[in-house]
Amino acid sequence: MKTIQKIVSGLTAACLVGSAARAAEPLTLTVQTDQPGVAINHAMWGIFFEDINFGADGGLYAEMVKNCGFEFPDPLMGWTKLINNVAHGKITVLDDKPYNAANPHYLRLESEGTAPIGVANEGFRGMGVKKGETYNFAVQARNVSGKPTLRIDLYSEAGAILATAFIKDVSSDWTKYTAVLHPRDTDAKAKLYVQIEGKGSVDLDVISLFPEHTWKNRPGGLRADMVQALADLHPGFMRFPGGCIVEGSTLAGRYQWKKTIGPVDERPLLINRWNTEFNHRPTPDYFQSFGLGFFEYFQLCEDIGASPLPILNCGMACQFNSGELCPLDQLDPYIQDALDLIEFANGPATSEWGAKRAAMGHPEPFHLKMIGVGNEQWGRQYIDRYTKFATAIKAKYPEIKIVSAAGPSPDDDRFKFAWPKLRELHADIVDEHCYANPSWFFDNTHRYDKYDRNGPKVFFGEYAAQSDRTVSVFNRNTLECALAEAACMTGLERNGDVVQMASYAPLFANVDAWQWTPDLIWVNTLGLCRTPNYYVQKLFANNAGNQTMPLTLNAPDGSRLYASATRDDASGETILKVVNGGNEPAAMQLNFAGTKSMAPTATAFVLTSNHPQDENTFASPDKVVPIQYTINTPANQFSHDFPGNSLTVLRLKITN
Ligand code: AHR
Repeated sequence: MKTIQKIVSGLTAACLVGSAARAAEPLTLTVQTDQPGVAINHAMWGIFFEDINFGADGGLYAEMVKNCGFEFPDPLMGWTKLINNVAHGKITVLDDKPYNAANPHYLRLESEGTAPIGVANEGFRGMGVKKGETYNFAVQARNVSGKPTLRIDLYSEAGAILATAFIKDVSSDWTKYTAVLHPRDTDAKAKLYVQIEGKGSVDLDVISLFPEHTWKNRPGGLRADMVQALADLHPGFMRFPGGCIVEGSTLAGRYQWKKTIGPVDERPLLINRWNTEFNHRPTPDYFQSFGLGFFEYFQLCEDIGASPLPILNCGMACQFNSGELCPLDQLDPYIQDALDLIEFANGPATSEWGAKRAAMGHPEPFHLKMIGVGNEQWGRQYIDRYTKFATAIKAKYPEIKIVSAAGPSPDDDRFKFAWPKLRELHADIVDEHCYANPSWFFDNTHRYDKYDRNGPKVFFGEYAAQSDRTVSVFNRNTLECALAEAACMTGLERNGDVVQMASYAPLFANVDAWQWTPDLIWVNTLGLCRTPNYYVQKLFANNAGNQTMPLTLNAPDGSRLYASATRDDASGETILKVVNGGNEPAAMQLNFAGTKSMAPTATAFVLTSNHPQDENTFASPDKVVPIQYTINTPANQFSHDFPGNSLTVLRLKITN
């Protein structure tokens, strides 16, 4: 065994992290508490949201009806016709004299009155309804002939009626009708039936069902449990709307924020690029309704105290797909979208785009400070387009920081091409992506030690340890993967003067409709399951600091022990994070050098489990969760046992 010591944070940081000593020597970790290192971004731990895995429709956006407006290419996808031998009539999809020309298709139900006729919606892999909760039904309806009554039912998966409502006297002009449903039972796979009773015909459009209890109880809002899980992370920022979804497989399929604001009924539907991306995970019913659009993203950021980070298409479709390019001399509309977005977020309510924000109910600005140009782009074509965007954005909004792309890998040729070019262009922040096996994360905790302190800052914008391999369906959210990420995060934190931000990806996955694994939070129609990886993110974000503290760790080579220390001025606490990625417990001597006095107890959080391959499931959601406890801190030096396969956070009150 040998001693390795490494100066981590450049000139002033003096953060010493090492490993190994002689075999007989105890493990020691020394934090120099009277010599703070560098200032770091207290908000560096954030979240990455993409509409992948049914993250938006069928996820965060609480609408329970799939294909509300009959606008899918197969207009009855998600719907089943309820018509039988006894019920004489017709069910058709039409588009003449629609409710809304922007979404022209609607449903016509025609009945001879012999029995009810209608349609049933399956929801997003079922509708989750809960006994004791209220569900708000809404529909645009127009009576065409006769005087039929609209009958609305919730059916359980087993076929029992859970709730019923009627709407009578439907007007001959398009009119919005509402009804309230109180299910008499909880069901994860309920269905919504919409039928007419009596002779006549009725047109229906924008058929909608929302839980009354959404996040902040906003009508038409977001799933409360999912947003709460995000709020609990206290994310410093939120990146949205992706991911590859920003790029589209072709430019026509790219994300265009201007089409996602204003009245929800007028937002044009777009196929979700993840619908067709993987042959092994086809999702033919995956579309973007944009009920969760850019206004809602900004509002969500504000609600959970996260700084918004929108990522925009830079005139390049996904290079894993068509790689279609907008010619450089035709880039102006794309650049204008970026400039207009900044005005939409920050401009006065009297400005053109600020007025649209105000009209949606938010006259105050959203305080946008950064914007991403392109997602995971690479090559000369990207640098050319980035340059044009950056020139225009900086000319009008010099205060806005721009996040630029370095491709999909943390160390390949595309990455090596991008970095020098972006450095030359004085880029603000470079977005690095890394999906790799756990060893990569354990082995790269010193990656940023050698980064240029005067160059662009880093956004470690997408990362996740893959228990199998990238895009494998066998990837699991194991404790080992979570600890590998935690180990790497100690390195990000120690280098917080370079690494400004970091976010795990992807964020959400619907258990019945995912395309990509692993993911931070798994959801079904009734609830969610937080992964060990989620708890790692939570422990780091809830125990962030604003200054690094120098530390020296003496441990044997290959011991899989990692640490970082910060000072949090707001609480006055010193925060120590230690990852023990080995199977054996590590008894460590902790020294808090330069300390005048220390409170007699400290708060500890530990995330561990019996086996590194343990994971949380819906059946056993709390198998791997952090435990909080108090430890005695009798002196500036004391011994602490770090369990095998654990992340420990200690919060200590220290006076220098
Ligand atoms: O996080 C899933 C995908 O991985 C993102 O959409 C993309 O940016 C990356 O390739």
